[in-house]
Amino acid sequence: MEFIVYEQKGEYAIITISREKALNALNSAVLEELDKVLDQVDLGTVRCLIVTGAGQKSFVAGADIGEMSNLSKAEGEAFGKKGNDVFRRLENFPIPVIAAVNGFALGGGCELSMSCDIRICSDNAVFGQPEVGLGITPGFGGTQRLARLVGAGMAKQMIYTARNIKADEAYRIGLVNAVYPQEELLPAAEKMAAGIAKNAPIAVRNCKRAINEGLDVDMEEALIIEEKLFGNCFETEDQRYGMAFFLDKNKEKVKEPFKNK
Ligand code: CAA
Repeated sequence: MEFIVYEQKGEYAIITISREKALNALNSAVLEELDKVLDQVDLGTVRCLIVTGAGQKSFVAGADIGEMSNLSKAEGEAFGKKGNDVFRRLENFPIPVIAAVNGFALGGGCELSMSCDIRICSDNAVFGQPEVGLGITPGFGGTQRLARLVGAGMAKQMIYTARNIKADEAYRIGLVNAVYPQEELLPAAEKMAAGIAKNAPIAVRNCKRAINEGLDVDMEEALIIEEKLFGNCFETEDQRYGMAFFLDKNKEKVKEPFKNK
């Protein structure tokens, strides 16, 4: 792959968007590679993904403005669909995805981070949806996910004004969960990924499904989704082992890794 680096580190893996000369902007080729790299993730062993950007300056500086500049109406719609499809795939990917936002997360970059389960960022991160300044709307899910994450009022303010916000403000409005000095960001993401990977994988996946699917329906239906996924865990070896280990009074015993079964 030309623009994506994929590295598996034991039970988690890191996807790095690597198009540094354009601050990792998303052209069609990057989007296609992002889709392809998801096919490569070995879901038998990888239990959490991290998405980050190459270099010290940018996570992703948006969709590629050069590529978009001459699109027709139909081509614009198709480009939006291309981004939406791959981001939706990431959002619904069976395992958790952490965005380690290491700099500019503008337009499509902010949107990419919002399709991940969890966002943490470096202290030099900048978030924003600058699209209306370019004569377009956010096109890779920004109008929908930003409003769901930070509330319609704040999302509308950010989108209508096209004003970028720094890491501390992104933290204050709940767009990111934590801010780290730049050199500590990836280690913090890896520590979180390893922590998630230690927990019962089927239970973690079921939590992701319950939260995502539950948010799209009313509370009655959402609780039924939860009940089914909760019940489903009782068919797993990991539930048997996890609870038996808790109940075992032998304090010398060391907890074994979950088996993903
Ligand atoms: N598309 C294409 N190229 C981009 C880019 C983008 N989104 N962002 C940066 N680049 C390129 C620049 O053109 C420049 O290339 P050259 O060296 O060939 O001139 C290179 O990356 C470095 O950028 P700058 O020289 O501009 O770096 P800077 O430090 O002065 O500024 C920046 C950094 C503030 C992020 C600035 O690059 C910028 O404003 N970029 C555009 C951000 C933006 O508007 N993103 C939203 C795009 S629209 C969108 O994403 C639609 C959607 O929802 C799908």
